[in-house]
Amino acid sequence: ARTAADFLPERTDLTALREAAGSCQGCDLYRDATQTVFGAGDPNARVVLVGEQPGDVEDRRGEPFVGPAGGVLDRAMADAGIDRVGTYVTNAVKHFKFVPAERGKRRLHKTPGRTEIVACRPWLSAELAAVRPELLVCLGATASKAVFGPAFKLTERRGVLLPPPEEELMAGQSEAGEHVPSAILATIHPSAVLRALDRDEAYAGLVADLRVAAESLS
Ligand code: URA
Ligand code: SF4
Repeated sequence: ARTAADFLPERTDLTALREAAGSCQGCDLYRDATQTVFGAGDPNARVVLVGEQPGDVEDRRGEPFVGPAGGVLDRAMADAGIDRVGTYVTNAVKHFKFVPAERGKRRLHKTPGRTEIVACRPWLSAELAAVRPELLVCLGATASKAVFGPAFKLTERRGVLLPPPEEELMAGQSEAGEHVPSAILATIHPSAVLRALDRDEAYAGLVADLRVAAESLS
C-alpha cells in the first residue's frame, strides 16, 4: 500500500522533512484537507509531544496545537512545569480528517483509522530520528496506538513512564534511521478535557500526568 514512506526525502533534517511532507499523498487525507500540518518546535527538544491530527484551526493555519486543544495543552504544560518553548509538538496524522456538518460549513473532526495512522507513521518516526528526544509524550489514544500498536489501553497505562515498544513505532521505517526515546508517557488528549463532564477533574489528571513527565527530565 501507499504510505508516507514513498515520500520521504533523502535528507532527514526537519526542514527537508517538513518540505517533503507538504506534498505527501501517502493516504487519502491530503485530498480534502487544506495543507499538511507538520510538527513544530525546538529541533533539539528533550521532549516530543504527539497528538492525534490537526483540528480545524490547525488545518487552516498549518501549525499544530494552535486551536482550542492547543490552549489547554499550553496551560497544562505550564502548570506541570514544562515550557512549550524547548519542546517539539507534532501529530500522529498530519492531515485533518473531517466530515462536513449536516448544515452550515463547519467541519467535524473524524478520528483517523488504523490505515491512516500506519500510512503517516513514517513522518513521526523521521521526526523522532531527527529530534532524538529523551522522552515522548503521547496525547490521547490515537497517538498512543500509533506508538504502541492498536491493542494499547490508555486508561490502564496512562501517567507512568513506559519502556519503548519493541518495534511498533519503527515498523517499516528503517530508511529514516532509528531513534527510540528512552521513555514514553501516555496521557489523555487535551480536547478530552474540553469534552469531559467534569473539566476540572480531567484537566487535573492531564497536569498530574505531565508532571510525571516533567519530573523524569529534571
Ligand atoms: N488536536 C490534535 O491532536 N492536534 C492538533 O494539532 C490540534 C488538535
Ligand atoms: Fe501523507 Fe499523513 Fe497526509 Fe496521509 S495524513 S497524506 S500519510 S501526511
